[in-house]
Amino acid sequence: MSLLTIMPSGKTIEVEAGSNLLAGILAAGEKMPTQCGGEAKCGACHLFVIEGRKSITRMTPVENAKLDTIIGVSSKSRLACQVQMGTEPVTVELLGALSGF
Ligand code: FES
Repeated sequence: MSLLTIMPSGKTIEVEAGSNLLAGILAAGEKMPTQCGGEAKCGACHLFVIEGRKSITRMTPVENAKLDTIIGVSSKSRLACQVQMGTEPVTVELLGALSGF
């Protein structure tokens, strides 16, 4: 198990190691409208990983290529649908309207 903290709401939930980050965010009751069903195609699940980046799965070429098309990416950017949780606590920041795609 690991802890997932979601900003700006500050909700913290327990998630299984190896579980999908987007699924955890939705399970916490956060709204993250996606259009591609987790295929790294829509970019709607773009967020910043504030803490715990070393614990989550590495970025794949497919995810990296999609992030290259999104406005406002940073070194903290990930696509939630492409991230599997590790065993360390993770804090993410949902970008909402701040994420251009
Ligand atoms: S859900 Fe579409 S890119 Fe993640």
